[in-house]
Amino acid sequence: MPTADSFSHHPGPDHRAGPVPAHVAVIMDGNGRWAAQRRLPRHAGHRKGVANIRRVVGALSERGVSVVTLYAFSTENWRRPSDEVAALMSILAEEIEPQTRELHEAGIRLVHLGDLAPLEAGLQRAITKAQDITRDNTAATLNIAFNYGGRDEILQAVRRILADGVPAEQLDEALFSRYLYTDGCPDPDLIIRTGGEQRLSNFLLWQAAYSEYYHTPVLWPDLDAAELDLALNAYRQRRRRFGALDKPPLSDEA
Ligand code: IPE
Ligand code: IPE
Ligand code: MG
Repeated sequence: MPTADSFSHHPGPDHRAGPVPAHVAVIMDGNGRWAAQRRLPRHAGHRKGVANIRRVVGALSERGVSVVTLYAFSTENWRRPSDEVAALMSILAEEIEPQTRELHEAGIRLVHLGDLAPLEAGLQRAITKAQDITRDNTAATLNIAFNYGGRDEILQAVRRILADGVPAEQLDEALFSRYLYTDGCPDPDLIIRTGGEQRLSNFLLWQAAYSEYYHTPVLWPDLDAAELDLALNAYRQRRRRFGALDKPPLSDEA
């Protein structure tokens, strides 16, 4: 795991993305449709979806990705029927301990992104405990965005910046980034959305400024290593310019 200082939120024009993205973020969409295809209740899709986290995190870390961010529950998902929200909460409550144990054995650090306050006290404690247990792990980082919203993240940053009395002239992009839930984490190089929709749905609004975007109709519970390789191969074909121009081929330089 690189130190916070080695992360750059502002890659210069000479920055070249490595062949493997350092940070992959996934909008895990399609659990409900996966269940509907099998005439199962939606919560069965969520259960299958949570089980797929192991496979995807394992495959990405094997391929050299050092940060994985998974969008699990948005600030807008509270608008769903209360029984579905309750099912999502209880699946997380059940899964967090066993999955944290496995992540810890693999040397992976778990970080929560989002607002813990509206969650049930027991769930808040379980999430805090999972972060504490894995805090010093360095093999990779898994960010779980749960009760996360990009607008909420920006607003809570502004509130804390004002509360800290930060002088306006001192506020720049680097300082602002330190008030986000992703403090210390590089921006995502690649954002994958499963389930076919082509939108961010309030995910990483600030951090996604120069992310490459890949979407697939594959539903989240079906996303496997072969599908991930398609996304990683697509990423390798992208030319990331960050607003600058491509470097001319070496033969043109003389
Ligand atoms: C994504 O799957 C999981 C969450 C948003 C919690 P969905 O539940 O949105 O599945 P679809 O989009 O209805 O198929
Ligand atoms: C996005 O999926 C949120 C998560 C995957 C957690 P949604 O299913 O909530 O997104 P919309 O409503 O189709 O935009
Ligand atoms: Mg959906």
